[in-house]
This record gives sequence, structure tokens and C-alpha cells, in this order.
Amino acid sequence: MRVEPYVIETGRGRPVVLLHAFPLNASMWMPQREAIGTTHRVITPDQRGFGGSQLGHDDPSLDEVADDLAGMLNSRKIDRVVLGGLSMGGYVAMAFLRRYPERVAALVLADTKMGADSPEAAENRRRVASEVIAAGTSAQLVEEMLPSLLGQTSMERRALVLGRVKALLEKAPPYAVAWAQRAMALRPDSTADLAAVAVPTLVIVGEEDTLSPPEEAELIAKTVPGAELVRIPDAGHLTAIEAPAEFNEAVAGFLAGLPAE
Ligand code: MLT
Repeated sequence: MRVEPYVIETGRGRPVVLLHAFPLNASMWMPQREAIGTTHRVITPDQRGFGGSQLGHDDPSLDEVADDLAGMLNSRKIDRVVLGGLSMGGYVAMAFLRRYPERVAALVLADTKMGADSPEAAENRRRVASEVIAAGTSAQLVEEMLPSLLGQTSMERRALVLGRVKALLEKAPPYAVAWAQRAMALRPDSTADLAAVAVPTLVIVGEEDTLSPPEEAELIAKTVPGAELVRIPDAGHLTAIEAPAEFNEAVAGFLAGLPAE
């Protein structure tokens, strides 16, 4: 059954939906709401179970999340959007694209991957899911995840970014973490869907991203016809948080070049 996501929304104009990374929430998009919200309607939902959104009772699947998103747009009477997602948000954007291609006017895929998990990666997600249910979002999980989410430069030089991401990780609700991990483990390969994309697409990657490294972004950019690739130096997996000015500049330039609807 559909969950009505909790949404933080700002600005007016063409709607831009931004989907957050795992295991964060829509608060990660604060710098984007501030910058892009001056020219666009920026809509940032909390994925099921995270932030202010209920988890619901459905079996884990990113298709459920995509359906939540479609329902959220219906309740706002919005037909087509510029759809952006970072990492897990990118996986959800791909699920949405598969289910509602006509509702996507343009795509932004940041620090994400188009392939499915290897059996080992899927198994590791299920292990984390069980552990987190048994023991909560432990300090150990936070310590394990932080260095992979942030680039070397942020780990060494951006104490505020580190503190902000750490606080978000510590607050991640265990059942949402488990649900999302199991849903991500089940996601299909999206190569064929991306090869069929016929709308403007921007691919962004942090040069220090080790979770979805630049080679993954290059693959996506080669697969989506006409896609543009922006590499952000001195940033890891969470480009939108680690290098917000560069991220926002790339997105603003992309948005400015879109054909009017
Ligand atoms: C994310 O940042 O959303 C996660 O790294 C995605 C993943 O675990 O594949």
C-alpha cells in the first residue's frame, strides 16, 4: 500500500524532485533547496521509513518507493518533473523511470550505479539488515559507513560535513535501514532502461567516490544517449553535501539548458 512521503518543498517554477541517499533523509538536500529553490520548485521527499515518512507494511522493493513518488506527484497535481537522485536516490529514479517514463522530463543521476548487486553485495546487505534489526543502528555501523560515504578530502578537512553526516547516520531508523537494504539488494539491472532514455540527462560523480566510483558514472553517461558527465574534484560519494557549490552549479547549468515544456 502506498505511503504518502513526508516532503520538504521550496521555491516556485518547474518542479525538480531530489531523492536522497541511504541511510540519510531529505535534510541532506538543504544546500540544493537553498540554491536551486531560487529558480525552481524543489521537492525533496523522505523515502519510506526515513525522516518523517512512515515505513508502511509492504515487502522491500524500490518499486514501492517509485509508486509512493508517483502518488506524491498526483496529490500535488504534477505531471512531469526533473528527477534527480543520489546513490540510492538514483536507484529509485531508475525504478521510477521504468514504471513512469512519461513523467520524467529530465534526469540527474549522482554518485549511483546502473547495475544490480553481485550475489556477495546482496548478501552483505541482508547481513547488515539483520544486524541492524538485532542490534540497532550501532556506533560500529556508523564507523563502518562513514569513510565510504565521504571522500578523503572531507574526512580530513571538512569537520562540519563529517559531523552532519555522522548525525544523520546515527539517527537512521533501524527498520528503515533494513527495509532499504533488502530493497536495494533486489533491484534489477537498469542498463536497458537507461539506454532507452530520451530526455536530457546529467550524470554527476565525486572524483573521490569509492562506492559508486567515476568509472560507474562514465558507464552511465555512455549508456544514456546524449548524457552529460560532470566530475567533482575533492568530493566523495555525497557530492551534494561535500561540494554543494560545485554540485549546485552543475545542476543549475543543466536546468538552464533544458527546453521549455
Ligand atoms: C547510498 O549512498 O545511497 C548507498 O551507498 C547506496 C548503496 O548502498 O548502494
